Amino acid sequence: MQAVVAQFAETNPKARGIGAKSCVNDRYLRRLEEAGFVKQVLEKQFVAQKVLTAHSTGPILGLANAEKNSTNGGGPTMMKHYLGTLPFLLCVILLPSISVAQDSILQKSCVDCHGSETKYPVRGVRSQYLTSGHRSLGNAHYANSDDCQGCHTNEGFVERAKTGKVDVKKFVSNPSEIGCFTCHAPHDKGNFSLRTISKVTLVNGVTFDRDKGNLCASCHRARRTPKDEVRARNIPNDSWGAHHGPQADMLLGTNAYEFPGKKYSNSAHGVLPTANCVTCHMAQPAGRYSLAPSIGGHSMRLAGEVHERPKVNVAGCLNSGCHGEMKQVNDKHFYDRKAASDYDGDGKIASVQEEVEGLLDKLINSKGSGLLQTMKDPPYDAKGGFINSKTQYPIEVVAALYNYKFVKEDGSKGIHNTAYAVQVLMDSLKALDKNLDDSKRPQ
Ligand code: HEC
Ligand code: HEC
Ligand code: HEC
Ligand code: HEC
Ligand code: HEC
Repeated sequence: MQAVVAQFAETNPKARGIGAKSCVNDRYLRRLEEAGFVKQVLEKQFVAQKVLTAHSTGPILGLANAEKNSTNGGGPTMMKHYLGTLPFLLCVILLPSISVAQDSILQKSCVDCHGSETKYPVRGVRSQYLTSGHRSLGNAHYANSDDCQGCHTNEGFVERAKTGKVDVKKFVSNPSEIGCFTCHAPHDKGNFSLRTISKVTLVNGVTFDRDKGNLCASCHRARRTPKDEVRARNIPNDSWGAHHGPQADMLLGTNAYEFPGKKYSNSAHGVLPTANCVTCHMAQPAGRYSLAPSIGGHSMRLAGEVHERPKVNVAGCLNSGCHGEMKQVNDKHFYDRKAASDYDGDGKIASVQEEVEGLLDKLINSKGSGLLQTMKDPPYDAKGGFINSKTQYPIEVVAALYNYKFVKEDGSKGIHNTAYAVQVLMDSLKALDKNLDDSKRPQ
């Protein structure tokens, strides 16, 4: 029991303060309940503990025997005294000494995860998770109704995983961020199997089916289609677009605005079934030596900091067997994977991510020289801020902005699908600037 308490106190801020020193008393019970302890389980366990202590022949009898055998004698009075101070004994003597018996009670249900020598690395995983966007970006409290809650809150996703949808008229009044219980159901199943890995139908009807990556894709996908959004029109606000996380669409090379008459293709990650989200994002660097919790595993981050210097996680690249080696662009959050061509036309062939960044910059950048900043009645100002404009834009401008956001918000700068990302960006640039040299466009 103490091990469990200590573990709760460590891993659960709400339970912090229970402390290993506390005793099994009403106050302790209440606090565990406040910490979300399943009442039933607790009662069961507590009853079991009472039964156990009542029947314990170990420490109590041991003590009594010691008294009996002592020269002063012990006998019933002494025994009664001990029983009278049972609560005291429970705290000071029994709890540590009945740990073996406790283990056997807890074993089935709790020690795998909450004991001191756990089967699952809950605490280590938690320290990684705390650095992840799931924990830290904070939009669970912002996006908790309409249908947002199905992706942004733990409660909404659990409902969606169970029933296939969320009640858009309801909102989650006490939303919690995406956490252990969103992706796993450890207290229902007693293990860390995933809540769902069903294949996902993207919003344009294309099927995403890549093993554990399906879990990620059920949230990290576009919410809108170019068919609905891209036409001659005004841009209503800065969050207009496919919606922040179109990674599943990008990986499959689908659902950006594709210009008529152009052919689109995929790079290796777009077609390899083993390149699912998990194999890259959760790969653990070998040994985890000299690293930080913010890289790999449940941080789900590929680029983090080690002693304040940028570091990328190459474990997934190497584990895949496809890349013999993978380096990092010095002191940058970029993989040193040379692009096939100078896509952004700056005169040198840099890494894929730098080339894609170069293409994005040609549309919007911090110097104010992007095509979507310098055109007549531009949608973005010189600093890259959205101009809430009522201007009716021709379809090329709307398409270019849609694709800009699609690639930008994918966040991988071309790693998810280099060919598709470069193609849609080049075609967008070409639509705005007929003189652009697009001879380097991947085929
Ligand atoms: C398969 C693993 C697993 C098992 C088995 C398990 N737990 Fe948990 N439990 C977790 C995880 C994971 C968390 C969340 C930890 C975190 O937030 O870092 C948790 C959290 C808790 C919390 C804090 C609840 C909250 O809302 O934050 C309590 C209380 C708890 N567990 C009690 C128990 C009890 C009692 C048992 C045995 C009956 C048990 N657990 C068995 C994995 C497990
Ligand atoms: C299909 C799942 C899904 C739905 C539904 C959804 N979102 Fe999101 N949203 C995401 C994902 C995934 C991200 C994170 C993408 C990333 O960081 O790469 C995100 C990011 C965001 C962000 C952060 C943007 C940023 O630049 O930091 C906001 C704000 C947001 N969503 C609001 C909403 C609102 C409001 C709704 C409902 C109207 C909503 N979302 C519905 C999946 C969804
Ligand atoms: C966004 C989804 C997500 C969240 C949130 C999440 N996990 Fe996981 N977890 C996964 C996936 C996916 C895997 C499988 C990883 C793999 O196969 O490499 C996994 C694997 C695990 C494993 C390894 C299981 C094994 O048998 O080795 C443990 C332990 C685990 N998670 C614990 C946790 C804990 C504890 C938390 C909360 C602190 C948590 N997870 C939060 C998705 C998630
Ligand atoms: C329940 C929906 C959901 C699932 C499942 C999910 N994510 Fe997320 N993910 C989100 C949302 C929403 C955000 C943004 C959180 C916010 O803005 O508060 C996010 C953020 C992230 C971020 C940080 C992005 C950034 O801009 O910093 C990464 C990386 C990420 N997720 C990867 C994954 C991977 C890999 C998986 C599968 C193992 C996964 N996610 C599963 C919804 C989900
Ligand atoms: C081939 C490896 C690979 C695969 C497969 C992959 N990713 Fe990525 N992803 C990356 C790399 C590399 C980045 C860039 C990381 C960075 O700079 O932070 C990235 C970026 C991201 C980001 C933005 C992170 C941020 O901090 O802004 C999210 C979110 C994300 N990926 C989610 C996913 C999801 C969801 C899937 C599956 C649909 C997926 N990824 C598949 C390698 C991969």
